[in-house]
Amino acid sequence: MSFALIRSRAQTGTEAPDVRVEVFLSGGLPGFSIVGMAETAVKESRDRVRGAIVSAGFRLPQQRITVSLAPADMKKTGSRFDLAIAIGILVASRQLPELPDRTEFYGELSLNGRLRHVPGLLPAAIAARNEELSMLVPRRSAAEAALAGAVVYGASSLLAVTAHLTGAEPIEPASPPDLRSNGCCADDLSDVQGQETAKRALEIAAAGGHNLLFIGPPGTGKTMLAKRLPGLLPPMSKQEALQTAAVHSVLGERLDVDRLFRRPFRSPHHTVSAIALVGGGGSPRPGEISRAHNGVLFLDELPEFNRHTLEVLREPIEAGEVCISRAAYQLRFPSRFQLVAAMNPCPCGELGDVNGRCGCSRDRVRAYRSRLSGPLLDRIDLQVDVARQCLASIRRGAGNNESSATVAERVADARDVALKRQGCVNANVSGEMLEQLAQVQPGGWALLERAATQFRLSTRAAYRVLRVSRTIADLSADHQVTERHVAEALSLRQLDRET
Ligand SMILES: Nc1ncnc2c1ncn2[C@@H]1O[C@H](COP(=O)(O)OP(=O)(O)OP(=O)(O)O)[C@@H](O)[C@H]1O
Ligand SMILES: [Mg+2]
Ligand SMILES: [Zn+2]
Repeated sequence: MSFALIRSRAQTGTEAPDVRVEVFLSGGLPGFSIVGMAETAVKESRDRVRGAIVSAGFRLPQQRITVSLAPADMKKTGSRFDLAIAIGILVASRQLPELPDRTEFYGELSLNGRLRHVPGLLPAAIAARNEELSMLVPRRSAAEAALAGAVVYGASSLLAVTAHLTGAEPIEPASPPDLRSNGCCADDLSDVQGQETAKRALEIAAAGGHNLLFIGPPGTGKTMLAKRLPGLLPPMSKQEALQTAAVHSVLGERLDVDRLFRRPFRSPHHTVSAIALVGGGGSPRPGEISRAHNGVLFLDELPEFNRHTLEVLREPIEAGEVCISRAAYQLRFPSRFQLVAAMNPCPCGELGDVNGRCGCSRDRVRAYRSRLSGPLLDRIDLQVDVARQCLASIRRGAGNNESSATVAERVADARDVALKRQGCVNANVSGEMLEQLAQVQPGGWALLERAATQFRLSTRAAYRVLRVSRTIADLSADHQVTERHVAEALSLRQLDRET
């Protein structure tokens, strides 16, 4: 009996657990079977591998071929194991020499022996890099895999792989792309005229990682403002960039190296389904919130979203990841995002207009607001009016019109202060730690207590005001939270004051 063992990796969520492809050749009637919880696409490997081996000028051993994908209790999907299986057969039948054990193999084979791109190789490359293993992948996948910094060889066919392994025609490792941190965004904050309160709220949201809701009539710049949040956040670290890119890799999307460090901005339409939003489906795929990982999720026209769809957001917001459970397996997709939402104040959009254009009854307004899911609102620290402005303040040059870069500097400083103090942004400080970390002066406490009584704030709502107050203090490099900071935080809680 002959035997070969080839390394590869499966894909579960954005993780890439080890898979050992074991090939046994034994006497008896010729046959070819694959065992180890392989789904249809993997089973079909047999035909592709058979065709590819013959087309490349090798022979298919006239023995019983058993391929075992270990561990057997892990589900294997896709065609990524084709190359590993073919190489295993060639080694076991001594058509190739024994291989060094430090290389992983990936790729789909066509019947004529070409190697085809497979999705999800970036998570595999991250794992391979961590274990200092090299990878042999389809040429089209080489650039993606090289992003992670692993040693990657890209080949176009089975024949090219074997020529590389025997030393007849060695392949040069793919050079890792030049990763420069290019966090810049096309949309600049200086494009937005006026709306100083909303801009200030955006800066506070960026500095403290607070979720934010804009409330205002149509055409006042809510969408414009939301789009500019990624540009105020510090660029992603390399590790963050790779995590976010891994989601796109799993989706089989081409990675754009030039945009790698830009924080994602996703704005799903309000008709989005729960599965498209949080991920899932028959063969589970990441949803919008995972595409927004390390970036911004924008929900425009929040009351128009299906209530159930918003309810499913609760857990991922809390956990920073989506966990999908099936009878046979469980997988995770990362989903740490900052939420920005926008809505009109009432069904017609004109409530609060100085000219009294709104004709909505109180009941209609209440019904409209009640469409917002309470638990979701609970996680939104800032609720800000974006009112219509008079023409004078919209004219170019009327306001201070700071650029995104200027504001981003203040944001970065404030975030550094928070990270040094507690290791996370202020929005993520737990209730227990908050009182100690916030350092509130007596005047600040007194104001918070008065407000809590007047607006009947829950303890949770009061804590939220405290978190925002802490961020406002950090932005002006104040050690202590004063009455002034609390007052500004309270002014950015529009919905508390109305109900
Ligand atoms: N403050 C502003 N500064 C510059 N342009 C603005 C401003 N507000 C609105 N605009 C202009 O109006 C257009 C509409 O703005 P935007 O889409 O952001 O409004 P909105 O508040 O999201 O409206 P809706 O409620 O209808 O979604 C923008 O593309 C921009 O050209
Ligand atoms: Mg809009
Ligand atoms: Zn109205």
